[in-house]
Amino acid sequence: MSASSELRFPDNFVWGAATASYQIEGAARDDGRGPSIWDTFSRTPGKVFAGHTGDVACDHYHRYADDVALMAELGLKAYRFSIAWPRIQPDGTGPVEPRGLDFYDRLTDTLLDRGIDPIVTLYHWDLPQTLQDRGGWTNRETAEHFATYAGAVHGRLGDRIRTWTTLNEPWCSAYLGYGNGVHAPGVRDAGAAFTAVHHLLLGHGLAVRALRASGAEAVGITLNPAEVQPADRDSAADAAAVRLVDGLQNRIFLDPLTGAGYPADVLEHVARMVDPVTFLRDGDEKLIAAPIDLLGINYYAPTYVAGRPDGAGGSAWPGTEGAVEFLPAAGSVSDMGWAIEPAGLGRLLDRLAADYPGLPLMITENGGAFPDRTTDSAGRVADADRIAYLDGHLRAVHAAIGRGVDLRGYLVWSLLDNFEWAEGYRKRFGIVHVDYLTQRRTPKASARWYQEVISRNGL
Ligand code: FCB
Repeated sequence: MSASSELRFPDNFVWGAATASYQIEGAARDDGRGPSIWDTFSRTPGKVFAGHTGDVACDHYHRYADDVALMAELGLKAYRFSIAWPRIQPDGTGPVEPRGLDFYDRLTDTLLDRGIDPIVTLYHWDLPQTLQDRGGWTNRETAEHFATYAGAVHGRLGDRIRTWTTLNEPWCSAYLGYGNGVHAPGVRDAGAAFTAVHHLLLGHGLAVRALRASGAEAVGITLNPAEVQPADRDSAADAAAVRLVDGLQNRIFLDPLTGAGYPADVLEHVARMVDPVTFLRDGDEKLIAAPIDLLGINYYAPTYVAGRPDGAGGSAWPGTEGAVEFLPAAGSVSDMGWAIEPAGLGRLLDRLAADYPGLPLMITENGGAFPDRTTDSAGRVADADRIAYLDGHLRAVHAAIGRGVDLRGYLVWSLLDNFEWAEGYRKRFGIVHVDYLTQRRTPKASARWYQEVISRNGL
């Protein structure tokens, strides 16, 4: 197609794809890797669909060179991947395992050889099990160990990697990991969840400091802010429900990260559930507020809430029972049951730009799981629903940039079908199909569509 594409993106817009270590690497026992909480959790009966584990996953650990060649073929400018902490420090502390670092060293060089910019996430949920045995993110020391680990990785890769992300979606780590137990380590305790929120943020702040000390160029964090809307715009009760959920998922992270400290209403809510709050110490908020260069946004679907005294609440938002009703998605949904609403992404970006100005944004994840049942004559997945999802969300991104939102790039979730946490392999998010029996990769129609978008820099 010609340069007269209807919608053109800014010249240096970053187009890419994202993955995470436990979801694709496999090689769970190779080269000295220690066990992570996801190894333990996936082996616990009833936790992951059909007992699936990440033992083999996409075998990316052994097939990374072919995977990078595929990324190059698709024209990706950037690739966001995460580092498995238990490959670098099998016990979470102590000596570094050089073979673990060697893997990411090879991956980095292969990406750079192909002109693909590596974007690193230091923590995408695979905490070393040894640290969990000592309380995991409910133990303050984990934050300090995380900073040591961050410094060790930067020491090896910092000469080639420019963009560093500390955590992926600490909301999930804390509330799904320690609150409702849907994710590893499977703890169900509201107090533990709030303690984990704080220690994750502290770990982020300490890691930013360590990365800066080691000379990192661009440092950020990736959140999954809720795009939370009232069932009824004119209802004061619904507005209060929005405020509560916004506090628990958005402001509890964004305010301290941007230097405003924890919001008073959120602290009051936490104090009602964790009494006394002992984990917050003098000076912590200053550490958490270490300046960042980039805020990564993962967006999939909006959240609609109503304020109701008999509301069931949501187990992932501690203390919302008896106050909030989370409404089921209306309209079309993905295979996850998540509402498909691109306008929500536009609203979210506007809100972030307005309330947290001066912070460059990047979409670090966006995409859809679909059943992928239809194939074309060449045997490729004909995933028109995924293309429509991506197209709609990219249009929302383009419009937001037009309104002045400082949005630097878009990374599709995900490059490959992969281990979708508690859902195992039954949910497919990839633009590239993976046959788990043969490990054969086949770009879906959406991959070819995305390739075109990238080459035209537009839609
Ligand atoms: C996000 C995770 C990512 C993936 C998508 C579907 O919450 O960061 O690993 O599982 O959801």
